[in-house]
Amino acid sequence: MSSTSQSNTDRVFIFDTTLRDGEQAPGATMTFEEKLQVAELLDNMGVDIIEAGFPIASNGDFEAVSEIARRSKNSVIAGLARAIPADIDRAGAAVRLAPRGRIHTFVSTSPIHLKYQMNKNQDEVLELVTQSVTQARNLIDDVEWSAMDATRTPIDYLAKCVEAAINAGATTINIPDTVGFSVPEEYFAMFKTLIETVPNADKAIFSTHCHNDLGMAVANSIAGVQAGARQVECTINGLGERAGNAALEEIVMALKTRGDALPFHTEIDATHLARASKIVSAACNTPVQFNKAIVGKNAFAHESGIHQDGMLKNAETYEIMTPASVGIKETSLVMGKHSGRAAFKDKLKDLGYELGDNAFQETFVRFKELADRKKNVYDEDLIALVDDEMGSIEDKIKLVAMSVSSAIGGDHTCELTVSVEGDAKSVKVSGTGSVDAIFNAIKEAVGANPHLVHYGVDAVTGGTDAQANAHVRLEMNGKIASGRTAEPDTLVASARAYLNAYNRLLMERGASAQGVMAG
Ligand code: KIV
Ligand code: ZN
Repeated sequence: MSSTSQSNTDRVFIFDTTLRDGEQAPGATMTFEEKLQVAELLDNMGVDIIEAGFPIASNGDFEAVSEIARRSKNSVIAGLARAIPADIDRAGAAVRLAPRGRIHTFVSTSPIHLKYQMNKNQDEVLELVTQSVTQARNLIDDVEWSAMDATRTPIDYLAKCVEAAINAGATTINIPDTVGFSVPEEYFAMFKTLIETVPNADKAIFSTHCHNDLGMAVANSIAGVQAGARQVECTINGLGERAGNAALEEIVMALKTRGDALPFHTEIDATHLARASKIVSAACNTPVQFNKAIVGKNAFAHESGIHQDGMLKNAETYEIMTPASVGIKETSLVMGKHSGRAAFKDKLKDLGYELGDNAFQETFVRFKELADRKKNVYDEDLIALVDDEMGSIEDKIKLVAMSVSSAIGGDHTCELTVSVEGDAKSVKVSGTGSVDAIFNAIKEAVGANPHLVHYGVDAVTGGTDAQANAHVRLEMNGKIASGRTAEPDTLVASARAYLNAYNRLLMERGASAQGVMAG
């Protein structure tokens, strides 16, 4: 059965929380501009509700939610709030300029959260549900209420809370699997019971919100939909704390591809999925695993001889959806060093990028430099260039010069100059290998010793002249930041990625933000 033939009652609303729950992933902090870019993309691809942030967390979060609200076209813009009056007021103020705004307020309901986190009894929390939803409803008509850690909450108490929230005016009821603990049958049963037994259940839309700790976030979300939920909360690439959230692209394509078994549909334009994945991955400096369903580099690659043979005879032998249906285009050779600005602009447009004047000029200059050094420039190279440009921040520390010498059984030394807010600082430092020497040199030059959480390199395309994509994740004083850079030289890419992460560590984020992370 084709999904478009289904009725409105089978419509599943997609609530994307990449900018809130997703951004809470370690090192995934986005800049203001990156958040606006991701929100615009989500709005264009048909996301019904964009959770744009947690306005009380910091001024930066508040401003990003307000600006996303002001610019929104079709999507409802939601701001998160704890069951605290100041949070709810702040969320209301942040979404005020949205043509359609929502306050999303939550409180924990499970015994373990009540005892250790809230220090409140069930009656007190029940009272909070009514108070918080009532306050939110006095500010806005569209109010979502979430029972944090719902899947570890006794169902009778959960049902009472849901009834109270709906009575107070909540229009969406979210039942999160906050700790990724549930299994599909159990999650299904929870929704069935709530929808069938809570007396006013028909006055709200029920929503899933699943974390992926046991790898069941998507399966659980779909089980919730089968039981009657009509909103799914998810993130691009499954981004999120710990093992992440349910992946938007997997939910959308599961419903689209298996309309026969899952007679539900979304209004997402799936041809935006590949690009959304790339943009979020670049903005958060979080690489997508190669075998990630739908958007991984290998998701449509057929390696075995038997599969390749079948594919040549008829693609449907091994392909349940086409790469084009999720927006993956055949890779193509771009232009060379003689290509002009107009052709370059056209190519970027074709790849789905429209850059402002400054960003365009910068990217064009970098493209020319790359084309001078690299014979073949592919779409992937251009995407890496644009992602670098969009991920660039106002660097306090810049790499000015670097030379590395390395010998088998001998020394590995890095001589490097950085400019620290305009002041040049040169050092010469050795290490156990070239990369170790480079990172040691940077640490000495900047006078800091962040902990290296992750370092990785992969090739943007094939060939020995491929650009190296280097990823670095650093931790310092409880704050984590990631950096990424693509460069033809692996060592330069590594140094720049390290500095990119370090500059992000220095970036202001409201000091209180870490303290008020939600689940
Ligand atoms: O996982 C969770 O419980 C949450 C809530 C804030 C909705 O993210
Ligand atoms: Zn969550």
